[in-house]
Amino acid sequence: MSNDTNAASGGVIAKLRAMPNDSPQKMLLFTVVLCFVCAVLVSSSHVLLRHLQEHNKELERSTNILQAAGLFKPGADAVKLFADKVTIKLVDLDTGEYVKVEDKEAAKFNQRKATKDTQLSRVLTSEEDIAGLKRRAHHAPVYLVEENGEVQTIVLPISGKGLWSTLYGFLALKGDGRTVLGITFYEQAETPGLGAKIATRKWQDKWVKKTVYDAQGKLVIEVSKKPATPATANHHIDAIAGATMTSNGVHNLVHFWLGKQGFGNFLTRFHKG
Ligand SMILES: Cc1cc2nc3c(=O)[nH]c(=O)nc-3n(C[C@H](O)[C@H](O)[C@H](O)COP(=O)(O)O)c2cc1C
Repeated sequence: MSNDTNAASGGVIAKLRAMPNDSPQKMLLFTVVLCFVCAVLVSSSHVLLRHLQEHNKELERSTNILQAAGLFKPGADAVKLFADKVTIKLVDLDTGEYVKVEDKEAAKFNQRKATKDTQLSRVLTSEEDIAGLKRRAHHAPVYLVEENGEVQTIVLPISGKGLWSTLYGFLALKGDGRTVLGITFYEQAETPGLGAKIATRKWQDKWVKKTVYDAQGKLVIEVSKKPATPATANHHIDAIAGATMTSNGVHNLVHFWLGKQGFGNFLTRFHKG
């Protein structure tokens, strides 16, 4: 039996060898075999490297949260620093209350996945959907830095449509729930040199110390082409020149996530002290 098989495969190889290299059958077979080998290589490296990819994603997320909170030190172990300093909680966006789950469970919550799940999210009406998200998960994680039992920093995940892409980032507020500590964007596909400037330190630094809500709790933060006036200076960020549409996207997504559909209900507890 095995002799027959060997003879048969030997026959096939001999036949192939005998074929001229430019014969259509040989070229087709070569292409199919090459595609198969490449597909196996690509899919096995995807599976084998998944663990590393997950770790790198976590590292990037931790680094961005720490950067937004002003806690990142170059060269530091971001994952360890994050674990030491940051507590993750889940918030019910409709009530503004914490969801009663273990911190471990809150850390595992995947907001993007939940947004696609019809049980865990809902469709936004066109009036509500100022950030172009279509759906919003019922729950969202918040990242808290506490000292002596008091919240010093609140980092909120934010996302929304820019010009070409959905922008994903973090907005960090002081424990008063009003003052910006920092903003970062870790995923976006706007044009380099134009919209992609939202991911630069120079533009993000303009947000530091700005006020998002006024004393009456009105959402006042603005990203605008119009120049700031003395009355707006403490809540105005200049739009990026030549990238008004991306800048408008950032204005809208910040308003969405600080508004009633986002973390608005949650943040009022900090305003009241
Ligand atoms: C190739 C190309 C890429 C562009 N990329 C962006 C972008 O990433 N973000 C953006 O807001 N505008 C971008 N724009 C510009 C917009 O299309 C639009 O012209 C601009 O936002 C107009 O307003 P402004 O000049 O006041 O910013 C791009 C334009 C071109 C031609």
